[in-house]
Amino acid sequence: MTQSDPKLDRTPPSVRNDLHAIADFPFPAWVPDWARRAPSITVAPPGPRSKDVVKLDKEYVSHAYDRVFTFTIDRAAGATVCDVDGNLYIDWTAGIAVMNAGWGHPSVVDAIRKQSEKLVHSFANDTYFDKEAELAKILSDISFSGKLKGTFFGNSGAEAVGAAAKLSTYFTKKFEFLSFHGAYHGRVGPALNFTSKLKYRFGFGPMNNVLFTPYAYCYRCPFKMEYPSCDMYCMHYMEDQVMNLGGSTGSLAAVIVEPVQGEGGYVIPPDEFMPFLRKFCDRNNALLIADEVQAGLGRTGRIWSSEWTDTVPDILVAGKAVGGGIPLGAMIAKPEIMKRWRPGAHSSTFGGNAIQMAAGIAHINAIVEEHLPERAAAMGEYVLKRLRELQDKHEIIGDVRGRGLMIGVEFVKNRKTKEPLDITQLQVKCYKKGLLTLTSGTYGNVMRISPPLIISREFMDKGIEIFEDAITELERESTPQQPAVVTQPQP
Ligand SMILES: Cc1ncc(COP(=O)(O)O)c(C=O)c1O
Repeated sequence: MTQSDPKLDRTPPSVRNDLHAIADFPFPAWVPDWARRAPSITVAPPGPRSKDVVKLDKEYVSHAYDRVFTFTIDRAAGATVCDVDGNLYIDWTAGIAVMNAGWGHPSVVDAIRKQSEKLVHSFANDTYFDKEAELAKILSDISFSGKLKGTFFGNSGAEAVGAAAKLSTYFTKKFEFLSFHGAYHGRVGPALNFTSKLKYRFGFGPMNNVLFTPYAYCYRCPFKMEYPSCDMYCMHYMEDQVMNLGGSTGSLAAVIVEPVQGEGGYVIPPDEFMPFLRKFCDRNNALLIADEVQAGLGRTGRIWSSEWTDTVPDILVAGKAVGGGIPLGAMIAKPEIMKRWRPGAHSSTFGGNAIQMAAGIAHINAIVEEHLPERAAAMGEYVLKRLRELQDKHEIIGDVRGRGLMIGVEFVKNRKTKEPLDITQLQVKCYKKGLLTLTSGTYGNVMRISPPLIISREFMDKGIEIFEDAITELERESTPQQPAVVTQPQP
């Protein structure tokens, strides 16, 4: 599919109105029969074949990878993951928000196969490559009607964040950054600098050119205020307190923000949040970097989650889904900013790699042509409604929030005190029953629901059933048992 193809409708989802056509949400026809049969647990996971691999892995692979599931993945299709022991799992993870158009989407697979037969390494550092230019144009077309134009390609989200940091300092000639409590931007270089959680920073330093300020996480407002009567106090705190008393040197290059926080707990800030940051950056001659690595490419019901508030960032960072499962990061900027970089200002041996570009083009075209953002928006509304019904029945569900298919369910021991509930066992229970989920949040107590956007309603319903079963079991196990009343034999 080429750019000039009239079928490729790049009209922003917000102005289309074809949700009725997808109301029943069946799987697309290409999803194979075997992948429609999940969940199917035939061997209690981890099965023997999985265990063999785990043993080898534990001996030779770095322990830095902190695996959640104990099975060994074999193949995947649609919204189903199959392990080497033949168990089929409903996938609510999309491989951490990567496989937006579904595992094994035929156009992506075909593009990778065809490209690999012709050219694998495009050597694009030193030559020109047609698909690199094509993908950069597609990214511009889908980014605020071309307002962002000029892409630097790297190999991961963190690398794209690093490129954004470098471009910001180069452009503004300033060096300070503002990031948020709960932010996750990656774990190498500047990306780690912008990531807030102690767990990820512990033992690494010094990191001293970043100020942190509270995110608009209303469920756990650090100021114990309530929206909207708070009048977005967190934003005023940022401006009055953090920027004046928080150690700034007055050299703010950029604010980096996730328009919907991912690892921080699928937090949806109020609609004023992003526009406030836009104005704040303009007032401070600083750039606004929107990190769309997790929330981007249709997940929230828009191509970019920043579109929900019509906030055009100066720099946008994409990763995860952008390569359709092939490692790819992209940093896209306003042309007047990107053009300022001198040739050689930044580089990556594999930037613009042939397989990355072919897969990225096919994946984004699939997302747009198959109206997956709209599908995610409509399905998300349905799922939120079902989850709120669960919340009415289960006291341990403190909050349900989301946009599109980026949904968080926050668990608490007590709804009043909001004391976080450890949900590791909930995740394990779901997995053993055939549902893959991931956790997130400052306290790891938020279940994130981020399935492939092509997931069927039937699979969501089956998943919700498993989820509820697991919640009920967890509640039963965590309720202190009354000691059995022993009746003394009467004399
Ligand atoms: C918002 C956000 N930014 C950046 C990253 C880092 O991406 P990567 O793991 O590809 O380096 C992630 C990864 O989870 C993310 O969620």
